[in-house]
Amino acid sequence: MKISKIIIFSMLAVLIASCNNTGNSNKDKTEEEKKETAVAESLQQSASTDEPDFMEAGKKVYNRVCLVCHQEDGSGVPNMYPPVIESDYISGNTDSLIYIILEGMKGPVVVKGVEYNSIMPPQKGVLDDHEVADLLNYLRNSFGNSGEFVKPEDVAEMR
Ligand code: HEC
Repeated sequence: MKISKIIIFSMLAVLIASCNNTGNSNKDKTEEEKKETAVAESLQQSASTDEPDFMEAGKKVYNRVCLVCHQEDGSGVPNMYPPVIESDYISGNTDSLIYIILEGMKGPVVVKGVEYNSIMPPQKGVLDDHEVADLLNYLRNSFGNSGEFVKPEDVAEMR
């Protein structure tokens, strides 16, 4: 009688322990599965044809022409090159923004409370209408900026 009680208790203990274990590993699995699903989804998204072309094309233009001054993360260089993160110039008036890109910028300017007085070279001889539009649409969807969609025709009009 006593021995069978011990056996039952130890069986119960094993049962509870294994329940806990499966509970834990199930939890781990779902966490892992969630991560895997998220990765799969993001991969699918970037491979999907819904991904607008301007994001990739615009980023290429940015990396080629703007990155050297405004930096890869858009943070600029203190007291030399202003940041393009959450920029009023990028999210603001479209014509003024196109103008800055085509004609460049010089003289004192205050960006996010910091004054800059330097020279940004004009890009009108470097970038065509399509490249400027792609670039600005990329910037308006990056670095915390926003704004209406820019068409190559808008750039052509400003030239
Ligand atoms: C040679 C360095 C240089 C390059 C290359 C350059 N910029 Fe600039 N950019 C500047 C400077 C300097 C200013 C501030 C000009 C002033 O002091 O009047 C500026 C200002 C700006 C501004 C307005 C202020 C702000 O930070 O929001 C925007 C927008 C901008 N640049 C975007 C671009 C984009 C997009 C490109 C790529 C086509 C680019 N810049 C290329 C140096 C540069």
